[in-house]
Amino acid sequence: MKPLKILITAGPTIEYIDPVRFISNKSTGCMGHAIAKSAKKRKHKVTLISGPTNINAPKGIKFIQKETTTQMQKEVKKELKRHNVLIMASAVADFKPVSVSAKKIKSKQSIILKLKKNPDILKTLPKNLRKNKIIVGFALETENLIKNALKKLKGKKLDFIVANKINKAHEPFGGGKKDVYILNGLGLKKNLKKTTKSKIARAILDTVEELCYTPN
Ligand code: CTP
Repeated sequence: MKPLKILITAGPTIEYIDPVRFISNKSTGCMGHAIAKSAKKRKHKVTLISGPTNINAPKGIKFIQKETTTQMQKEVKKELKRHNVLIMASAVADFKPVSVSAKKIKSKQSIILKLKKNPDILKTLPKNLRKNKIIVGFALETENLIKNALKKLKGKKLDFIVANKINKAHEPFGGGKKDVYILNGLGLKKNLKKTTKSKIARAILDTVEELCYTPN
């Protein structure tokens, strides 16, 4: 089988408040890096665009580091042209400060941080770039997991979505075993219970390969 060209995003994006401070989220980058490693093992050609993480760059793949949502958005648009598959495993910062202070804000007084919406990387992918590509997204939800994930699948025009729950009993960030659902337009495809991120990565790649290699 012909190797696929797979573009993966991982980790959080960060948004600066001043030259030393930023807002972000709890993403560690484990999931995106695990998918990249697995895809490389399967001999696919892999590009990984990662936000700031503590994980070393995987060997034998193209590795690009970005910080902000806008930077990641630009890089995804640029790179997607020469790939067949996009897997958006990054936890993109949805908001950024309305203005970034050029000088370090002094800590003497409290501040009010005004935030504005960041672009949605998946939603703003141009139609011509999406053509003939498999697009995979993730959903992280505190409630109505399946309903909200299916809404994202449709709204972001995805081929399938990996749905993760976050609550006291389910911690999706970092290593350890996770419960996830893989959903497509027809509903549930796979339910992985107490599964490692490497195993989840393999299930995601199996689903991608089924879509790419099965004749219509
Ligand atoms: N995503 C994106 N651009 C954003 C936010 C998210 O492309 N600005 C992608 C993520 O990489 C993921 C999917 O969209 O694959 C869903 O991300 P998630 O954080 O679950 O949802 P949001 O779209 O941000 O919606 P909400 O925070 O309202 O649940």
